[in-house]
Amino acid sequence: MTADIERRLAELREALHRANHRYYVLDDPEISDAEFDALLRELVALERDYPELITDDSPTQRVGAPLDTAFAPVEHLERMFSLDNVESIEELEAWQARLTRTLGHDPSGYVCEQKIDGLAVSITYADGRLVQAATRGDGRVGEDITANVRTIDAVPLRLQGDPPELIEVRGEIYMPVAAFAALNARQAELGEKPYVNPRNTAAGSVRQKDPAKTAERSLSIWLYQAGRVVGGPDISTQSDSLEWLADLGLRVNPASRRVTDLASIEAYVAETEKGRHDNEYEIDGAVVKVDDLREQTRLGFTAKSPRWAVAFKLPPEEKTTTLESIEINVGRTGAVTPYAVLEPVFVGGVTITNATLHNEGEIHRKDVRPGDTVIVRRAGDVIPEVVGPVLSKRQKRTRAWDMPAMCPFCGNPIVLPAGEAKARCTGGYACPSRLREYLYHFASRGGMDIEGLGYKTVDLLLSEGVIGDPADIFTLDAATLLGFEGWGEVSVNNLLGAIEGAKDQPLSRLLTALGIDHVGGTVARALANRFRSLPAMLAATEEQITEIDGIGPEIARSVVQWSEDAVNRDLVARLGEAGVRLEDPEPETETDTEQAALLAGRSFVVTGTLEGFSRADAKEAIEQRGGKVTGSVSGRTTALVAGASPGSKLAKAESLGVPVLDETAFNRLLETGSIDG
Ligand code: IVH
Repeated sequence: MTADIERRLAELREALHRANHRYYVLDDPEISDAEFDALLRELVALERDYPELITDDSPTQRVGAPLDTAFAPVEHLERMFSLDNVESIEELEAWQARLTRTLGHDPSGYVCEQKIDGLAVSITYADGRLVQAATRGDGRVGEDITANVRTIDAVPLRLQGDPPELIEVRGEIYMPVAAFAALNARQAELGEKPYVNPRNTAAGSVRQKDPAKTAERSLSIWLYQAGRVVGGPDISTQSDSLEWLADLGLRVNPASRRVTDLASIEAYVAETEKGRHDNEYEIDGAVVKVDDLREQTRLGFTAKSPRWAVAFKLPPEEKTTTLESIEINVGRTGAVTPYAVLEPVFVGGVTITNATLHNEGEIHRKDVRPGDTVIVRRAGDVIPEVVGPVLSKRQKRTRAWDMPAMCPFCGNPIVLPAGEAKARCTGGYACPSRLREYLYHFASRGGMDIEGLGYKTVDLLLSEGVIGDPADIFTLDAATLLGFEGWGEVSVNNLLGAIEGAKDQPLSRLLTALGIDHVGGTVARALANRFRSLPAMLAATEEQITEIDGIGPEIARSVVQWSEDAVNRDLVARLGEAGVRLEDPEPETETDTEQAALLAGRSFVVTGTLEGFSRADAKEAIEQRGGKVTGSVSGRTTALVAGASPGSKLAKAESLGVPVLDETAFNRLLETGSIDG
C-alpha cells in the first residue's frame, strides 16, 4: 500500500519537475496549465494524507516558513570573483593582446555571454538536490538565501539527467522587465512608492525574511558558471560546461556564443549593444571568457578577478545627479506639469538637464525633493525619467515639494479638479505660459504647420507685443518683422510666405490647431467632415456632435464649451477677417473618405526608430486613415509598428500575441489597410 503511494508520489513529482523545466527553463511547455494544476492538486492531497512522505525537493515545498534570524553567513566552496571591465574596443583589444602575450599564442577560443544586470548567486546541489543558495557577499562569504531562492520557479529543486555528487553553480537572479512594470503599475494603483529598477527590486526580493514575499516577485535566473564540482564528467571548455549545466536542467542563456577571433567578439559586443532592450531582462554589457579551461588555469587570477574573462560594460542608462529644483510649466490646455531641473548629466547617450515629473501625486509617491540626489534614467528611445531619490544622500532640512497655489506666470489660482491627477491654471490665455504653448501648438506641424514659427520666434513676437492670439499671426507685416534684431529680407519673406500658405489649410488642421480639449487630428477630421465650416460647428449642439461616429459626450461637451466662449468666437471672427479659410470648399474626394476609413476602429502603437517617418509622422499617417494611436500595448492593440531599437513594447506585444509590423509592413498597412504579409 505505502509502496503504491510512494510510487505515485514519485511519479507526480517527476511529472511536475519535468513540466516546470519545460515551462520555466526551456520556455516550451508540454502540458497545459489545467493538466499541471490537476497533477499538483493530486500531489498536495496525497502529501496532506501522508505528511511523513513529504520530501524537501517536492514541487509543493517551494515556499517555506519565514526566517526569524538574520541570513546566516555561508562560506563559498570556491571564491566568487568579480570581473574587470573594459569600456571600449581598444581596451578589449588590449585585454586580448595581454592574453596572447601570457599564453605565447592566441587563446584557442572564447565564449561571449550577455552580462545580466541582476544579482549574483551561488547554488549548491548535493546528489542532484538543491541544498543551499547564497549571495556573493564579499566573494568569500555570502548570505544564506536558500529559502528564498527555492521559491524561484526557474530554479530546479532537483537536477535532471546524471547529476554529480556535488555541484556549485553561479548565475544571476533578475526580475523580468515586464514583471517589474507590472509590479510598479500595482504600486501606482495602491498609491504606493514605485520601485526604483528591476535590479534593486530583485536584490530586495531575495533578502525578504518571508519567502512567501519573494515568491510573489516573479524572479528568474540565468546560470553561467560552474564553481566547485565533485564527481562530474571531464569537461575542458566553458562552452561544454554551459551545455552540461543545461543538460542538468539549469536555465542557461541561449544568447551565449563560442567564437575564435577578436573580430567575432567585437561583432558580438556590437549586437549586444544594439539589441540591448530586446530581451525580457536587463543587461549591462557582454562578458567574454577564454573557452579552454587549461588556458584559463594558465592565465589565472588577479586579487579580484580572473585574467581569462572580461566584462564589456555598456554605457549606463541610470546615473545619479542633483535635483536642483522643481519648476512648473502651464501647457496649452492650462494643465500644469511639474518638471525636474537637473544638474546636467550624461546618461543613455544624451545630456539631460530636465525631466517631466508628470504631476504632484507622482512627486509625492516617488518622494523626490529639491536638493535630493536622484537617480535619472534614460533607456533606449524612452524619455528621460527621474526614478527616485537616493535617500542615503538626502541632506537634512529638505522639504517635500507642493504645487504652488498661484500660477507663477499669471498670478491666478492653480486648482486640482476633483478626480483628476493634473492641476490647472485658471488664468486662461491671460497666462503667458499657456498662451506661449497655445501659439506654438497652433503653428506646429500637427496644427497649421507654419514653418519657422517655433518657440524662439513665438517668444520674440510675444515679448515684442506684436501677437496676443493666433489671429494676430495673420496680420504680421514685413515692416514690423524687419525691425527686429537679426531679421533680414530672407527670414521675413520665408515666415510671411509660410503664414500666407497656412491660411489655406484644410478645416481639420485649423480645428486641431485651435487646441480644443480632446480634439486631436482624428476628432478634428470627423468634425470637419460633418460641419464643413467653423461657423457651422460653432452653432452645433451637443446632440448634433454626439451623432458623429466616434465622438462621445465628453468630446461634444468640450467642443460646445469652447464654442460658447466669447473669446473663442471673437478669435474665429478675426481669423476669418485675416483671410484664414474657415470652411472646406468642396466635399472631400472619394479617395479621401476611403482613406479616412482604411484603418477605422483599429488601434496601433508606434515604437522604435523608423527610417521614413518621425513618430509624429507615423501617428499622423495612421490617424489620417481613421486609425487610433495609443501609447501602450494592450490586448486591444491591433498591431505594434516597430522600428529599430523597439524596447520593451516589443516584448509586451509578443507576450500578448499582438502582431508586430516592421517598416515595410507598415507601409503596406498604410497603402492597403492590411496587416498580413
Ligand atoms: S562570470 C569568474 N558571466 O557580473 C567570473 N558574470 O561584474 C565571474 N554577471 O559578479 C562572473 N552576467 O554577478 C559572469 N554571463 C556572466 C554574467 C556575470 C552577469 C555579473 C556577476 C559578476 C559581475 C561582475
